[in-house]
Formats: sequence, C-alpha cells, structure tokens
Amino acid sequence: MKAPCHIAIIMDGNGRWAKARALPRAMGHRQGMEALKRTLRAVRERGVEYLTVYAFSAENWDRPEEEISDLMELLRIYIRAELAELHRDGVRLRFIGDLARLPADVRKMINEAAELTAQNTSGTLVVALSYGARQEIIRAARRLAEQGAAMNEENFAAALDTAGIPDPDLLIRTSGEMRLSNFLLWQTAYTEFVFTDTLWPDFGAKDLDAALAEFQQRERRYGKRGTMAQ
Ligand code: FPP
Repeated sequence: MKAPCHIAIIMDGNGRWAKARALPRAMGHRQGMEALKRTLRAVRERGVEYLTVYAFSAENWDRPEEEISDLMELLRIYIRAELAELHRDGVRLRFIGDLARLPADVRKMINEAAELTAQNTSGTLVVALSYGARQEIIRAARRLAEQGAAMNEENFAAALDTAGIPDPDLLIRTSGEMRLSNFLLWQTAYTEFVFTDTLWPDFGAKDLDAALAEFQQRERRYGKRGTMAQ
C-alpha cells in the first residue's frame, strides 16, 4: 500500500471541542496544537513526505483580538518547544501565506525556523499562516506580471507560495464541514478529499489511518478514463 506523498489538513473544530466541555476557546486551540504534534508524528511514521496544515486563515484576522493573540502565542509556544526536535529529526519547516501581516516577532521566529531547517530532508511541515488561496493566486499573478514571465501552468505554480512543493494527494477536513474555505485552491485540482466528523483536538493516528484507507480505495484518474470504464 503506497502512502500519499503529501497530505493537507484543515484543522477545524477547536472551538466546538472547547464549547462542548465548557472550556475557553483557547483551550480548544491548545489541544489542537497537541493534535498537530501527534498527527505530524503519525504522518511521518507512515512515510508521508509533506504535511500542510491550515493554522491561520486570512479570514481569521476578523476574529476577536483576544483569540488572534491566543493563536499567535500558541505559534510562539509551538516553535519554541518543538523546533529543536523537528530539526534533529530532519524535518524542514515552510510557511505560506501573507506573512507580512504577522507580528514582527512571530515573523522573525518563523523566518529563522525556515532558514535553520531549509536543508533538512526527512519530511516537510508546511504551515499556512495568514493564508488565503485567492490572495495567494493574486500575489502569484502579480509576480509573474512584474517579471514579464509567460502565463503558463508551470510558471504560475512556481510563483505560488507553495513553489517546489508537490500538490497534495489527500486533503482531510475535520469537524464535519465540507468546504475548502479558501485553502490551496490551485493546488487541489486533483486532490482526493476526505471529511471526518472528528473535531481536530480529538484527531489522532486512528483517524489518519481511516482517511488513508479511504484514500487507498479511490481510483485517481486525473481526468483520464479509469480501469472500470468500458
Ligand atoms: C479552526 O477551529 C482552527 C483554527 C482557526 C486554528 C488552528 C490552530 C491550531 C490547531 C493550533 C496549532 C497550530 C500551530 C501551528 C501552533 P475553529 O476555532 O474554527 O473551531 P470551530 O469551528 O469549532 O469554532
């Protein structure tokens, strides 16, 4: 059974997880960070090379200030606590999105983390921050226009934040929502989508394996005729 090369995850349901326990939303995000740590471990154990997670969307800037600062603080905590181990394990970190909008200290931390791990070859964690796919597409189009480069698929893909990263084979969204919510619109043209009712803070190896089993059952045709066709 061949593992997908790249899994993307929309980590949804932190707020509902907290609400169901009468806890502050920040606790849901905190448990969400724990779910990310275990999922990254499980993903790597299964031989998946790339994991991309939607950690903060461009639309998340519209949330109350307190929640935004909780999420920024979690990011700082995550990098402070995990970076050394990720680097030791050979994991490369990449960040995509409109990073200029992030607080200066967070920007500095993520730039340093990306630089430190840039040459690592045992898997890549791509963290989407202040990310919106439509905005990314517009940025890419602007870049190409500025360069005067030809508008073709290859140049366009290379102008996106995800330049050099293969498209996701599998996208998982937790918490029962079945939308893409402005995530990786260009890159998911041929991606298989798996939706699970599990709330992100509860997500773990079992849910990952269920998603992988569903992925294995799908026949990927990229618009061509499948083996079942007459
Ligand atoms: C969606 O849940 C989740 C987010 C907006 C944030 C995701 C962030 C984490 C999992 C924290 C860890 C990440 C890093 C990189 C440290 P929601 O709040 O929209 O949930 P709801 O729809 O139930 O309200």
